[in-house]
Amino acid sequence: MTQDELKRAVSQAALRHVPRGEIIGVGTGSTVNFFIDVLATIKDEIPAAVSSSARSTERLRAHGFDVVDLNQVDRIPVYVDGADEIDAAGAMIKGGGGALTREKIIAEVADRFVCIVDASKLVQVLGRFPLPVEVVPMARELVRRQLVALGADVQLRAGYLTDNGNEILDAHGLSITSPRELERTINQIPGVVTVGLFARRGADVALIGEAEGVSERTFAQPAI
Ligand code: 5RP
Repeated sequence: MTQDELKRAVSQAALRHVPRGEIIGVGTGSTVNFFIDVLATIKDEIPAAVSSSARSTERLRAHGFDVVDLNQVDRIPVYVDGADEIDAAGAMIKGGGGALTREKIIAEVADRFVCIVDASKLVQVLGRFPLPVEVVPMARELVRRQLVALGADVQLRAGYLTDNGNEILDAHGLSITSPRELERTINQIPGVVTVGLFARRGADVALIGEAEGVSERTFAQPAI
């Protein structure tokens, strides 16, 4: 199977986790693009969506979905999103597509995070994929120095601004053996808007696309 076929297969499998008649949370990325297209087949059963990026909003609206502001919503039963890496506990690196802040906000509201990935995203230890950190522009060098002190080789995502008007630093070369601790540490640096470590609130379910088919893993969320 090609990478795109795997993405389509996990997206199709994710439909089983979508409660009909409820608002759905929708992530961002090339895998989620397939999911949005598949979701369109049950559009009449989905009253509205909350979206994590301008790109996903545009695609959802092109299919005729009603996309609503998160502040209008009390509850999101399910949030479906991809990941750049996911470990055996359901902790993830996200933000390769730059939407990490809105993704983390929606994930926090959602009762259930369904992560859709192909098997190449499964890792023993997070960190091979550079860890994205969204920063307020005036804090860029402050945050960079502190990430370097944590052992990272830091690169500014050149020419890129998030949907929130901020910059992204990509922290390369970290071997993240304690994801929850590192998430807390980086969150505490002034000027950090969001770190793309989703460990405190990781995935509840991962749907993993492989040549043999889609497998499912469930994770117990640690007490905060
Ligand atoms: C966007 C994300 C994406 O979920 C992540 O980058 C995976 O994307 P793709 O499905 O294209 O591999 O976090 O901010």
